[in-house]
Formats: sequence, structure tokens, C-alpha cells
Amino acid sequence: MYIFGQPVLRKHAEDIAPDYPDLKELISNMFETLKNAEGVGLAAPQVGLPIRVVVIDLDCISDDEPQYKGFLRTYINGHILEESEEQATMEEGCLSIPGIHENVKRPAKVRIEYLDENLTPHDEWVEGFVARVIQHEFDHLEGKMFVDHVSPLRKQLIKKRLVGMAKGKFSCHYKAKANH
Ligand code: NI
Repeated sequence: MYIFGQPVLRKHAEDIAPDYPDLKELISNMFETLKNAEGVGLAAPQVGLPIRVVVIDLDCISDDEPQYKGFLRTYINGHILEESEEQATMEEGCLSIPGIHENVKRPAKVRIEYLDENLTPHDEWVEGFVARVIQHEFDHLEGKMFVDHVSPLRKQLIKKRLVGMAKGKFSCHYKAKANH
């Protein structure tokens, strides 16, 4: 897991070609990394690759939220096409920013386009928690992170910890790549 401060997390990620080498293996490795880290979403820049590949696992919360049973999805070359005017506020965290959780306001619904793991194209509206996770992950593809969205006051309060994190001062239970 690449941690806050690593330059790849601030890069604009590129679409990939359908014959991208070992794509199936990459996707399965990303799901494994996500599971080990006990997260719900992972974007390729977080494993050091500036490409538009995202995996989301909501199956891991399906004991509490049965509607997400079997929700294991891959989003290739994903883009947000439209956003609802309605906004929602939810607490977010990020595997690349261990230990920090903040409220973030985002559109409640978004229309997205992407290819699934079979390279079948999709164009759909998503809402609720799915919309939240997708916006967080698709942000990673633009080189953005959730802390960019928090209020200036909260940003001031977490600034020191972020600066420390970028210098390697943090702890997490999964394998992390940071500046030590
Ligand atoms: Ni994240």
C-alpha cells in the first residue's frame, strides 16, 4: 500500500488498453491486497500504478448490510459523467492515510461509465454507500484524496499528522510503502 506522500498518489491516472498485460492477475492481486487491509475499495495508484483500475468489495460488510452480499466489482477506465445536486455527508477513511477519519461532503448520486472485468461497458447512476465509495476511489484516479475535501479548520487540525505520515510516521497492520 502506497502511503500519503508518495508521488504516485498525486498523479492523474490514465485509461488502459483492453490488452493491458496481466490485467486479470492485477485485478485479483488488488482484491487480495484490499482484503488483507480490511478495506472496501482500492484504486491502482494505491498499489503504485497510475492507471484507471478500481476494485470495490462490499461483500465484506454484508454481515451487517445484507444487500451487499456478493458485491465484488471491478471498474476499469472509470469516469464520473454527472453528479446530483443533492449532497450527502459521510465519514471517510483511506488505506493510504491510516488512522485518519473525517467527514466529507459529496454529491449523493453520480452517473459513471466504466468497463467491468470482462471489458463490458457500463453507464449507470449509483447512490448511497456505493456512490460514496466510488467517488472516493475515482478521486484517487485524479490524484485527489479525501483529505483534500475536508474543511479548512479540520485540515489545519490534521496537517501535522499528514506531514508526519509523508515522512513515514504512521502505523498500520498491512504492508506499507512510505518514505522512511
Ligand atoms: Ni482511499
